[in-house]
Amino acid sequence: TRRVAILISGGGSNMETLVKSMTGDHPARPVLVLSNTPDAGGLAKARALHVPTSVVDHRPFGKDRVAFEAELLKVLKTAKPDIICLAGFMRILSPEFMQHWSGQMLNIHPSLLPKYKGLHTHARAIAAGDSEHGCTVHVVTPELDDGPILGQAKLRIQPDDTAQTLAARVLPLEHALYPKVLRRFAAGDPTPVTLEQ
Ligand code: GAR
Repeated sequence: TRRVAILISGGGSNMETLVKSMTGDHPARPVLVLSNTPDAGGLAKARALHVPTSVVDHRPFGKDRVAFEAELLKVLKTAKPDIICLAGFMRILSPEFMQHWSGQMLNIHPSLLPKYKGLHTHARAIAAGDSEHGCTVHVVTPELDDGPILGQAKLRIQPDDTAQTLAARVLPLEHALYPKVLRRFAAGDPTPVTLEQ
């Protein structure tokens, strides 16, 4: 079985659905949930699911990303993950860090990539007058929110949608998409996942 570490910064709802999915004949198991913020709500959720947790607070490191990533690496290496899932992890990682899990680090992003890399994706989709929106799981590469797409889930934007209502409707799509993609990825199945509403 493939060992999976999940990196979070916040509520950890995607982490929770990933952890819950890894049971039975699933080809992977969760070995660590790691947060860069000590008060991330996802830490309690992980503990309740009996998954080991760690915190590497980025703040004491200030602008010293090399030192922050060295500590991150030290903690991760003790868990020996084969796969790393970024799940609402809001720090940018360096190419040097990524190469330790090259091609084996996944991310979920709340837009239909390649549209709207970065932040405020829901507001930007509305401002652009898009008719559809959604979320993407992709392999992490040095370019931000880039890399081979493993799956997407789509919905129609309604005339009365706001950034908030869109966020609330995309999140359950994320919860449907990420576990499906992880299962296929861990099993070595390259078929992309597509979910339409
Ligand atoms: C999710 O919507 C995820 O797609 C987004 O943060 C949220 C985390 O929610 N990620 C990004 O914006 C990455 N740049 P969660 O902590 O409840 O899973």
